[in-house]
Amino acid sequence: MTRLEGKIALVTGAGAGIGGAMARVFASEGAHVYVSDVNGEAAASETASITEAGHKAEALRLDVSKGQDVVAAFRQIEDAHGRLDVIVNNAGLNVRGDFRHMSDADWTTIREVNLDGVVRIARDGFGLMKASGNASLINLASIMGHRGLRQLAGYSATKGAVAALTRALAVEYAPYGIRVNALAPGFIETALTERVLRNPLINKALIDQTPLRRFGEPEDVARAALFFASDDSGFVTGADLAVDGGMSAGL
Ligand SMILES: NC(=O)c1ccc[n+]([C@@H]2O[C@H](COP(=O)([O-])OP(=O)(O)OC[C@H]3O[C@@H](n4cnc5c(N)ncnc54)[C@H](O)[C@@H]3O)[C@@H](O)[C@H]2O)c1
Repeated sequence: MTRLEGKIALVTGAGAGIGGAMARVFASEGAHVYVSDVNGEAAASETASITEAGHKAEALRLDVSKGQDVVAAFRQIEDAHGRLDVIVNNAGLNVRGDFRHMSDADWTTIREVNLDGVVRIARDGFGLMKASGNASLINLASIMGHRGLRQLAGYSATKGAVAALTRALAVEYAPYGIRVNALAPGFIETALTERVLRNPLINKALIDQTPLRRFGEPEDVARAALFFASDDSGFVTGADLAVDGGMSAGL
């Protein structure tokens, strides 16, 4: 059974990591996926592997921190399909460091992608999601929106805001047939976490705090996103689903 047959989906930051896994899973479930990324080559290569497998995907170079990129992307999708059934606000980054030394430039970099990008896509994509009449907006929050970790304060602040925005938009968009949910991954093995997880002491400390005793794979998050993207979650909106091996539940 294909759970997203006929749906049009946009995934941001889909050239790598969790976004790439979502694009592959959505396409294999029958969706036509816009694989977008600030890195146009990464988006194109992910798209090629999806279409070579016989599924539907289109590459889109899209920097979520640039208003004109977002407007152009939605115009292209509107011309082709006139609607969007699924949007995943997945693009995100981190600049690590002690909060007291964080420069304005570093804070701006984190905020422009992790929060302003989500705001822009959720706002400017409203018309296309309304045209769907049965749309799902999925925001990538994080366990770091709920818990603190040294050197991640700026990142935590944006992810907490994304979780709050998700709840507010769930209420505001509900009358238009748009569900809005967040995913709160724990530690997933991608380029984003590579450096931290390579440190043996931190690696062990994190595993010891994870009841399922492993780090997540991008596919673990993609399968949770599939639930939100599909009609299986038709009565679910405003959720912030932990995909963290139990880390937020306790030791
Ligand atoms: N990996 C984890 O442990 C983890 C945990 C919780 C939340 N998350 C969140 O999941 C999302 C994906 O993370 P990941 O681990 O796959 O990261 P990643 O670094 O592996 O991939 C991120 C992708 O986003 C793209 N990107 C960066 N800036 C962009 C921009 N301005 N516009 C468009 N694309 C941009 C990158 O080119 C890259 O392809 C992020 O929002 C991240 O904060 C990740």
